[in-house]
Amino acid sequence: MKLNFNNPSLGGKIEVPGDKSISHRSIMFGALSEGKTTIRHFLKGEDCLSTIDCFRKLGVQIDETDEEIIVHGTGWDGLKEPSEILNTGNSGTTTRLMLGILAGRPFHSVMIGDESIGKRPMDRVTVPLAAMGADIAGRENGRFTPLSIRGKKLETIEYKLPVASAQVKSAVIFAALQANGESVIVEPEATRDHTEKMIEQFGGSIRREGNRIIVKGGQQFKGTDVYVPGDISSAAFFMVAAAITPNSEVVLEHTGLNKTRTGIIDVFEQMGADITVEKTFSEGEEIGTITVKTSSLKGTEIGGEIIPRLIDEIPIIALLATQAEGETIIRNAEELKVKETNRIDTVVDELKKLGADIEATDDGMIIRGKSKLRGGAVSSHGDHRIGMVMAIAALITDGEVELHDPEAIAVSYPEFFDHLRLLAK
Ligand code: S3P
Repeated sequence: MKLNFNNPSLGGKIEVPGDKSISHRSIMFGALSEGKTTIRHFLKGEDCLSTIDCFRKLGVQIDETDEEIIVHGTGWDGLKEPSEILNTGNSGTTTRLMLGILAGRPFHSVMIGDESIGKRPMDRVTVPLAAMGADIAGRENGRFTPLSIRGKKLETIEYKLPVASAQVKSAVIFAALQANGESVIVEPEATRDHTEKMIEQFGGSIRREGNRIIVKGGQQFKGTDVYVPGDISSAAFFMVAAAITPNSEVVLEHTGLNKTRTGIIDVFEQMGADITVEKTFSEGEEIGTITVKTSSLKGTEIGGEIIPRLIDEIPIIALLATQAEGETIIRNAEELKVKETNRIDTVVDELKKLGADIEATDDGMIIRGKSKLRGGAVSSHGDHRIGMVMAIAALITDGEVELHDPEAIAVSYPEFFDHLRLLAK
């Protein structure tokens, strides 16, 4: 795909698609509940469609209209042994969270994903689940897909997460919900809490005491209506686009503002960006309008507890930092190495091709700005977020950007190029 913008400016209002993490969980809790769940503003990206496909194979009726997804919940006991392999595609969230659900169901299932999923560590989930009594076999001792799950009666656990991961936390929560008694999960740093919020939205309960999360087993859920806020991880691309493109102002309505996800807003403020955030209404999850204008930016340091609050935004923050005066240092972000690609390497390699002054470190990257970027041939490497970083970079390059494999973007943001064209006048 050739991207050629001639001195663009960005302007207008958009509503980015629904939050990916919340969309996955709405299908999962909808399926595990008794009765009907109606989901509005669901993200029809490939990852969330994989979750729908897996639950259909488990016997759950899920209807789709243009406006809504309707899940006819079966309850925990209504899930059926699948006669086909569950294919989770490119989705780590589907793979890991479903392991926590399937580990305690009384049947056998097999899970596989795409080539990228086949390289991502699953032992971070299979190890705690095995400690709860799960029987999961997989390539290299359960480290990688394909995985075979023989459902078992699960025991409670007290587990300190070795990595700050909401996917691991959520998988253990789903398993703990099926055990007899109380489990405790200890987080090294707070990670996104959509699973906890959704348990309450579906009529269940969960407690947090500091960094300890306490889950009672044997809970039954009741179907409900869910509105999925816009995904701040998708909004991030147009926040950065507005900040780095001359004469721009972009308004992002109905964007999720859950505190465990808003690290990018803190970074914008630290870098001196022209950003305003207005909370509108909140229905389980906080929501609001984010407005960003062309900004004069300064470099910053990013590390520590903020990392889980912006982990998916680091690739686009790297582009932002190329347009800031001075040095930006990102630390403690080694988790980027086990995302859809090794995102430290892919973002550094691709931005370098456009002339950025950026280098990889063991746990992050160092970016020196402000650089004038040039056109060139780059690739998404099959990673949706890397593809979007490169497309946004094309707004400020001298010359054309040729983006290989732009299709990957449909994983989380199928309307991305429509929105880009709409805003770039
Ligand atoms: C997610 C958690 C994060 C994030 C991913 C979605 C979730 O992954 O990067 O895009 O929905 O729980 P980790 O749990 O691996 O940090």
